[in-house]
Amino acid sequence: MQPKNRKTYQEGGIEMNKYSNKKALNGNGKYSTVIESMLKTIWVYSYESEIKKLAELYEKAKKEQWNASSDIDWSIEVDLEKLALTSFFFPITFQEVWEELDDRKKVELATSNTSWVMSQILHGEQGALLVASQLVSSAPLYDEKLTAATQVIDEARHVEVFHRYLTTKMNKEFPITPHLEVLMKNILSEPRWYFKFVGMQVLVEGLAMGIFGTLERFEETLLVEIVRYVMKDEARHVAFGVISLKEHIDQLPTTEKKELVEFAYEGCVHLRNRIVDQSMVWEDVGLPTQRMQEIVERSPVFQDFLMLMFARVVPNLKKLGLLPDYIRPHYENLGILKYEDLEL
Ligand SMILES: [Fe+2]
Ligand SMILES: [Fe+2]
Repeated sequence: MQPKNRKTYQEGGIEMNKYSNKKALNGNGKYSTVIESMLKTIWVYSYESEIKKLAELYEKAKKEQWNASSDIDWSIEVDLEKLALTSFFFPITFQEVWEELDDRKKVELATSNTSWVMSQILHGEQGALLVASQLVSSAPLYDEKLTAATQVIDEARHVEVFHRYLTTKMNKEFPITPHLEVLMKNILSEPRWYFKFVGMQVLVEGLAMGIFGTLERFEETLLVEIVRYVMKDEARHVAFGVISLKEHIDQLPTTEKKELVEFAYEGCVHLRNRIVDQSMVWEDVGLPTQRMQEIVERSPVFQDFLMLMFARVVPNLKKLGLLPDYIRPHYENLGILKYEDLEL
């Protein structure tokens, strides 16, 4: 059953999807986006496993399959207010404004923020599904294709499970943030498969692990159950990227490696903005956008949260040789270089 007073963000802008007759999530009234992408498909004729670690990962993926319909207890009731108000972010992240708000506004802000977080996860999961399907075609080795195929079904399941949670347990949906949209489009349209690996497996998946690690601490039984299943899959996806890239990255010509270093850095800028820019939430609840953004950025709690987000991304970039000296000052300016040696 759907929660009462459920609404979609920017209701006036929603159009019917002419392909599916379902309401679209995009706040600009778009039901879908077409992304031009050049994909070089590689058909391999050798069916021998060449990378033992990937063969093991593929076996593990087959054993760890789960069913979002039957393995999750969807009968668990979700107390939205409790979920929002007891989550990691509240009320200490917004301490400066928290006491100024009346109880109704506190609940509104907290639930709006939680719905925004879950909506971005859903959009990111669809992005992951689309990229994973490209990896099946474009990855050059047999082991990589099989492992990518398991990621496709994993991501489909993640889309399913977060969509179900969002539409049956929460009362709002938000469109994709422009920062996540740009990043996903860059990854999807990039013809070179190893750029996709860095963008998806190292950046987006690494960040997702950070987000899920945070959600796992929430006091909400159903969400924690879902996140534990999803994290097992995502950990395999990050490992997939790191193992595969190690096989190839050192053989890249210098100019391409430099391009890859810059692609990774730009990706981190988009990822950071995707976390920091919560203007959709402020607009939704009618709070001053600029002031709220400033409060978020100087909040120590939010800085801790940012560290969790990049705790896997930056060390993995370093391990892959994608943090050469000339790019380090840029990461320093972004405030995330300090996480380079974190071991999780
Ligand atoms: Fe996923
Ligand atoms: Fe994933």
